[in-house]
Amino acid sequence: MALWGGRFSQESSALFKLFNDSLPVDFRLIEQDIVGSIAWADAITQVGILTTDECTELQAALNELLTETIDNPELIIASGAEDIHSFVEQSLIAKVGDLGKKLHTGRSRNDQVATDLKLWCKKEGQQLLELLGKLRTSLIELAEREIDAVMPGYTHLQRAQPVLFGHWCLAYVEMFERDISRLQDALKRTDTCPLGTGALAGTAYPMDRVQLAQSLGFAAPTLNSLDTVSDRDHVIEICSDASISMMHLSRMAEDLIFFNSGEAGFIDLDDEVTSGSSLMPQKKNPDALELIRGKTGRVYGSLVGILTTMKALPLAYNKDMQEDKEGLFDVMDSWAICLEMAALVLNGLQVNRERTLIAAQQGYANSTELADYLVAKGMPFRQAHHVVGEAVVSAIAQQTPLEDLPIEVLKGFSDIIEADVYDCLTIESCLAKREALGGTSLVQVKSALAAKQSN
Ligand code: ARG
Repeated sequence: MALWGGRFSQESSALFKLFNDSLPVDFRLIEQDIVGSIAWADAITQVGILTTDECTELQAALNELLTETIDNPELIIASGAEDIHSFVEQSLIAKVGDLGKKLHTGRSRNDQVATDLKLWCKKEGQQLLELLGKLRTSLIELAEREIDAVMPGYTHLQRAQPVLFGHWCLAYVEMFERDISRLQDALKRTDTCPLGTGALAGTAYPMDRVQLAQSLGFAAPTLNSLDTVSDRDHVIEICSDASISMMHLSRMAEDLIFFNSGEAGFIDLDDEVTSGSSLMPQKKNPDALELIRGKTGRVYGSLVGILTTMKALPLAYNKDMQEDKEGLFDVMDSWAICLEMAALVLNGLQVNRERTLIAAQQGYANSTELADYLVAKGMPFRQAHHVVGEAVVSAIAQQTPLEDLPIEVLKGFSDIIEADVYDCLTIESCLAKREALGGTSLVQVKSALAAKQSN
């Protein structure tokens, strides 16, 4: 029987029940719904709805229900209840009889679901922070292992300037650190307790909502009942933070898929995280990375879904909002497994240093050095850029790197070029010069790594 049966003389149609029920999705809120109900039992005891004995009995039954159901979602779903709140109330009544019917005094499923969802976000959010931290550690460890492997850095996917592999790793550390701080920030705003705001207008019982919030581990209660029951900003913020983080994961996956290609051959991926082809025996495909890139799409989809669901909703609660959970749950599941998978891929990754070095030496990645050499000899940079452009065209025509052009040929582009030019065209010199803060010189990358390792 539905919680709200009294006003109705006809049963719901089977199709309506299927359409309306959210239990197959929101069963995942069982712990939060029970924990919230235990706190609510205390709150209504304080305003005289329950005796202390009744409260103790209800809370014991709620704890028992939690133990029975926490690892048995099938049990919850098989009940056929409308939603998780109905399930908990019905199960309670089955355990303690009429006493169970008192628990919902002064409470609505509207403040209840908002509370459950925030509790869930807070808990899952902590888990995601941990996983982000672990991925950060994997990148730092990889940076340490491969700190001085030289590879080409790209712009427009054209070889641009050589960089250290450790520098590439630490670039992603920066991104995931921003993701951590963004999620921490969103969780601060999630940390207000909706319970005790009723259906929309506030509860009719003189609750101490500050104490109620504290008992549930929230920093404070929410301040406006209309806003409280219709607010899903925290869901949107978390999905948005997840989308940004998935974008970072996807870019990292894309870099690694390219590094792993036959054409680049910069890295080898562990067998553990790759798969073969059913037809082509030689294949070893980077499936883990492709799935990380692929799952980014569904996370963005959920963000756009919840934003669109919320955009025209009048105050306060509307059933549309029930659609928030499926997307949020999928976002958190996808984000979590992608973070774990990315760490596993990085932990088993090998860099082919010969291949990365050869590639870094090709593609005229030292052209900027020649321009800087001319600048050091007094030529304005714009003119030097032009002179080196001509030298590169000529080197390409002769299919030779800049450093293999004889001094007479180089002098033909500018007579200020001397034999010392060859020192500045080496890859070592290219790298060593990038020693201002944030650059890819070994000194800078080592100090960046040390800073990451120490916090
Ligand atoms: N299952 C609902 C949801 O997830 C719970 C709130 C229902 N409230 C209501 N007044 N029908 O949003």
